[in-house]
Amino acid sequence: MPEDDTQPSGSGPSPELEPKLQCRNLWKVYGAQPESWFRDPKALNDPAALASRMREKNLIPAAVDVNFDVAQGEIFVIMGLSGSGKSTVLRCLSRLVEPTFGEVLLDGEDLLRKSARELIEIRRHKMGMVFQNFGLMPHLNVIENVTFPLTLQGMPEKERRKRVENVISLVGLEGREDSYPHQLSGGQQQRVGIARSLAVEPELWLLDEPFSALDPMIRRQMQDEFLHIQSTLKKSIIFITHDFLEALRIADRIMLMRDGMVVQIGRPVDLITNPADSYVAEFTRDVPLVRVMTAADALAPGATQQPSAGQPEVAATATLEDLLPQLAGRYDALAVRKGDRIIGQVTPESLIDALAKRTAAHGAAMDEDGSETAKDSA
Ligand SMILES: Nc1ncnc2c1ncn2[C@@H]1O[C@H](COP(=O)(O)OP(=O)(O)OP(=O)(O)O)[C@@H](O)[C@H]1O
Ligand SMILES: [Mg+2]
Repeated sequence: MPEDDTQPSGSGPSPELEPKLQCRNLWKVYGAQPESWFRDPKALNDPAALASRMREKNLIPAAVDVNFDVAQGEIFVIMGLSGSGKSTVLRCLSRLVEPTFGEVLLDGEDLLRKSARELIEIRRHKMGMVFQNFGLMPHLNVIENVTFPLTLQGMPEKERRKRVENVISLVGLEGREDSYPHQLSGGQQQRVGIARSLAVEPELWLLDEPFSALDPMIRRQMQDEFLHIQSTLKKSIIFITHDFLEALRIADRIMLMRDGMVVQIGRPVDLITNPADSYVAEFTRDVPLVRVMTAADALAPGATQQPSAGQPEVAATATLEDLLPQLAGRYDALAVRKGDRIIGQVTPESLIDALAKRTAAHGAAMDEDGSETAKDSA
């Protein structure tokens, strides 16, 4: 598939924003002497071919030439089937897993060149991590687990106590402060992990399926809480999830991985309406288009850009779902506003047309290669 299709406009963050994190040609290969494969620079020109040669020799290329930037304040979501390399990439970013090749730049500085000591300082002060398997210390209770990273930072006790109280109430664990991890449910343990990483007030927040152990209602509450925290703190966040609807709610951009490789990076709407291939289409098949497509995606061709008297206006970013009640019987057309101008009109016909076109494009992507797709093991 052509490069332009796989990495649409969304492959880099908005140009006006400084990247907080840059991941360049990142590889993680498990197995015997993986470095030896990177001596010949020409081999890197075709990462997929190199990875398959490695697999033939029983190595596991878990991250294959992974490239992406995360902007200051952006929520960047990583998705992909089990085993596609999501956790590996996330752990390489903090060097909890040592990358085999590539660069990881945090505020422009290459983390792979930092000494062990410098790295510890960076992790303590700049990074927060929530692990897939919680990563709690079994012999410490809730308070002690959450306090631990602050003690490492050398924070004075009074400030520490206040901070810990704050995050514990934020994640709804009041009353369980004295419990040990084995006395907590999976969801509660996960919340301890979230509280602990938040306590540090990290600049870069790395979350590996942080809400996966929570039931749907609590999960939604935590997503709301998470978005609320983000709206004030504006951290740079990398967030792994298996749940596309979760990604849709929180992501500025999504990166989809398969077999260690990046398949597509884009805004949620790009992945849904312009999937790079059947794998991406399969991931997004259950997402209702009316919740993703916006008024700007459904303009009537050639319609006037002048609203008529008394005609209602809608924002270009309003979802089609938002427009339905107005278009169902009440109005023939809605004027669509973007900033200080009207960019066109949405009519019942143009809305149906837009949905039909996108549905067809999605179907075509699914039929395209008939290869094994997400449904096998999602
Ligand atoms: N320490 C290790 N030694 C060898 N192989 C490993 C190791 N850690 C991970 N792998 C392999 O690397 C690949 C990617 O694993 P990773 O944990 O990154 O997947 P994932 O996308 O996070 O999956 P999941 O959704 O199940 O968490 C898998 O094939 C896995 O078996
Ligand atoms: Mg994982």
